[in-house]
Amino acid sequence: MRKKVIAGNWKMNKLASECGEFLNSILTEINTDDKDVIICPTYVSLPSVINITKGTNVKTGAQNAHYETSGAYTGEVSCEMLKDIGCEYVIIGHSERRKYFAETDETVSLKVKKAYETGLVPIMCIGESLEEREEGKAFDVLSAQITNALRPLDIDEKLIVAYEPIWAIGTGKTATDEQAQEACAFVRKTLNTLFGDVSEKIRVLYGGSVNAKNISSLMQMPDIDGALVGGASLKTEFIQLVNYDK
Ligand code: 13P
Repeated sequence: MRKKVIAGNWKMNKLASECGEFLNSILTEINTDDKDVIICPTYVSLPSVINITKGTNVKTGAQNAHYETSGAYTGEVSCEMLKDIGCEYVIIGHSERRKYFAETDETVSLKVKKAYETGLVPIMCIGESLEEREEGKAFDVLSAQITNALRPLDIDEKLIVAYEPIWAIGTGKTATDEQAQEACAFVRKTLNTLFGDVSEKIRVLYGGSVNAKNISSLMQMPDIDGALVGGASLKTEFIQLVNYDK
């Protein structure tokens, strides 16, 4: 039985000075007994979020990391630096990073490798555009993203993969339960082809306009092991989302 994961990707939102009040309003309300709950704030808010969530079951993650340990990479933060401050997870290859910051399957691969070496849990994001879906190429895209990034690596059950169709991100247009299940099952099948039985233990999340209303039915799907949530993780709606009806 794979433990569910609900991860909030705050993207470039919330001031460090706003984190305390927001987290204090949700921390006592969310039920973390049967699932992993992860908050991914901006780099500058990470120390504050780590501090506030200390002693709770809520974990923290970064939204990106560099694949080198240190050096002349102005503006970047390494996995070692994240580990050093007590961060446990890192989102890698989000479609916004691929689109605006020219990340490729190759850099995603280097970053996942580095996260593993450092002891951070990578949450690797993949997903097709609307055009690719309409042309019937969605699964080819997913297969290539997974294979290019992960084939060179030695991965294990700690890996988390987030299927986030680009057309569903921030649009209010959630994939149907069946579309999300079909894609997450395909992700698992692809992982199985590459790595064998460990694919049964790897958590595959769905992301894209997940909210308090649609979470329950998505979580009933056999291959969806959790959600990567953007907009709804910034609001107290996140409480209902984490405590979804089973
Ligand atoms: P939304 O939940 O705002 O659609 O964002 C999804 C996402 O990109 C999470 O990483």
